[in-house]
Amino acid sequence: MPPGWTLSRGIVRTYSVGEHKDMLRIRVLHGPNLNLLGTREQSIYGSLSLDALDSAITKLAKELAVKVDLRQSNSEGELVTWIQEARTRYDGIIINPAAYTHTSVAIRDAIAAVGLPTVEVHLSNIHQREEFRHRSYVAGVAIGQIAGLGPTGYLLALRGLHDHLTASRRRKKTAAPATSRRTAKGTR
Ligand code: DQA
Repeated sequence: MPPGWTLSRGIVRTYSVGEHKDMLRIRVLHGPNLNLLGTREQSIYGSLSLDALDSAITKLAKELAVKVDLRQSNSEGELVTWIQEARTRYDGIIINPAAYTHTSVAIRDAIAAVGLPTVEVHLSNIHQREEFRHRSYVAGVAIGQIAGLGPTGYLLALRGLHDHLTASRRRKKTAAPATSRRTAKGTR
């Protein structure tokens, strides 16, 4: 395991080398059966293992100076708990809800409840596959969806979410002095 990884319940990894207080923090969630990546239906999902995928995400996170926490679970309830927990500890979420994409109102509601910018990722193009995969319960509460680009989709999601969060921080920073100037002049 590379230095900086910690491993606890199930498949949980946090990469936090060089962490500082203003660092953007992103939680990455992989849903059911994604622990089988590399062996599972390779013609659809490719040959990269979850470990290798997480390493690639971590490498980019390091370049972008983002703290990432990567987790995989086969349990809907555990994913819901991890989304809820992210509210106070993370700035955004990247999630591949896997089969729960097409069934889980609970995951959708959790994302809506925490209100964190969330990007939905799928390795395969769900819109080209069986009809039951065309519907995503998560899409309506995500800032964007990336499907069909394989592991690259996660890297694009990380870049996209990083840019989104950086821009919204910048907007907040530039809005704050204007408010305090108005308040100082008594024009509020
Ligand atoms: C998936 C697509 C889902 O339909 C499927 O159930 C998965 C993986 C993907 O990454 O392409 O398990 O989310």
